[in-house]
This record gives sequence, C-alpha cells and structure tokens, in this order.
Amino acid sequence: MVKTERLDKYIASRGLSTRSEVKLMLKRGEVTVNGKVVSDPALKVADDDMVTVNGKRISSSRYTYIMLNKPRGVVSASNDKRDKTVVDILPDELKRKNFFPAGRLDKDTTGFCLVTDDGDFAHSILSPARHVTKTYIARLSQPIDYEKAKKGFSDGVVLADGTVLLSAVLALLEDSDKPVFKVVIKEGKYHQIKRMFASFGATVIELDRVAIGGLPLDATLDRGEARLITENELKAIVENDERF
Ligand code: URA
Repeated sequence: MVKTERLDKYIASRGLSTRSEVKLMLKRGEVTVNGKVVSDPALKVADDDMVTVNGKRISSSRYTYIMLNKPRGVVSASNDKRDKTVVDILPDELKRKNFFPAGRLDKDTTGFCLVTDDGDFAHSILSPARHVTKTYIARLSQPIDYEKAKKGFSDGVVLADGTVLLSAVLALLEDSDKPVFKVVIKEGKYHQIKRMFASFGATVIELDRVAIGGLPLDATLDRGEARLITENELKAIVENDERF
C-alpha cells in the first residue's frame, strides 16, 4: 500500500482531534506506528499501518460513523432554522460541521440515527436496491386485523397514493388496545411506517428505530446519547443483515 498521508493528518481525520492536538500527542510520546513510538508529524502512513494513540488503535477509515439514540422533538437534518437537529445534539467531542444523518427519521420518531460524513456509505445503506433492513417498534392507536396486515406487509403494501412498497415483515409484540408491533422494512419512503399502518386503519402513536441492517441500537445509550460505531459494527450492518 502506498504511504501517502501525513501522520498528523491521518490521526486528526480519524480521531476527531485537531492537528495541533495531534502534534502535542506526538510530543508526549503517546503515538505508535506499527508498535514503535513516533514523534514526527510528517511521517507518511497508509491505511494498513497500525496507528495507536495512548494504546488505542485509530480506525483505518477516514470517515466517522456515529450511533445516536435520537430523542423526540429533534429533526434529522444537519441544520434547521427552528428546531434542534441530530447534529446539534451530538456531544462536543463528536461534533463536526460536515456530519449528516444517513436517512430521515420523523421529528417524533426515536431511536437509531446513524450520523456520518461518508456520503457513499449513507447512499449504500439507504438505496432500496441494496435492501439494507431497518427495524422499528411501533405502538398503534387501536388494534388492527393482524393476520390481514401481516399478509399485506409481506405482499407489499399499496399506499393511498398508489405507491407499491417492497415486502416488509410484521410481528405482533404486545396484544392490547394500543398494540405494539415490530416492523422490518428495506426502503425508506417518506412517513413509510405511518402510511403502511394507515392503510390498515390505524395511527402510529410511538415509533422507535431499533436496528439498521444487522446492527442493533446499543441498549446502554439513553435517548440523546451518542457514541462512535466500531469497524466491526459497521461491517455488521450489511454482513449480519437478515435478508428477506
Ligand atoms: N417511517 C415513518 O413513518 N417515520 C419514520 O420516522 C421512519 C419510518
């Protein structure tokens, strides 16, 4: 692999630090490349070099991927004149100007929002052609005919405007006067889940995204909390996805 990138730039772009912070880390002897302590910020490194800071390996990806547990009332956009966005509420150490959410959750939807600066990756997990699943938990205003809805979701719901959706999986989790369902879809049309249940006569009163592909939302993240996604987790989105 060609060694093209300066060490200070490599760490800064992958570790969410500024280049001057990285220079200090280098001076303090906190950085190793392939096991050796190094101090030269101009040293050239490649993606397959093992770079550590304080013993922790720096991700070889130049992009950043964040798992946010989106609370209600926050819009999934990079900036907004009126409302707080998913980027606004990231903790300072994770915040960057060029971040955006990979896909849209409604303002009142909670759960797994993936925030990144990697446009190609966002496109690849959102493209309906790729069929990366999104899993939601939905509470409804009233019961529906479960067997009929299950078959309808599986066959492909036809929305009120005539749009024909891809096959989706419906499972009843709580049978009550406000029943709770798990729904797995593989595309992301505007208000899709709400419109799917509307075609069976019910209103969604709570909607929570619990997984993107094979990666579940980290149960230890409270609403509003965020953390970096590891390289293995990123791979799991596609590799552990249960296709249907
Ligand atoms: N479907 C919806 O209706 N809303 C969301 O936020 C996500 C999926």
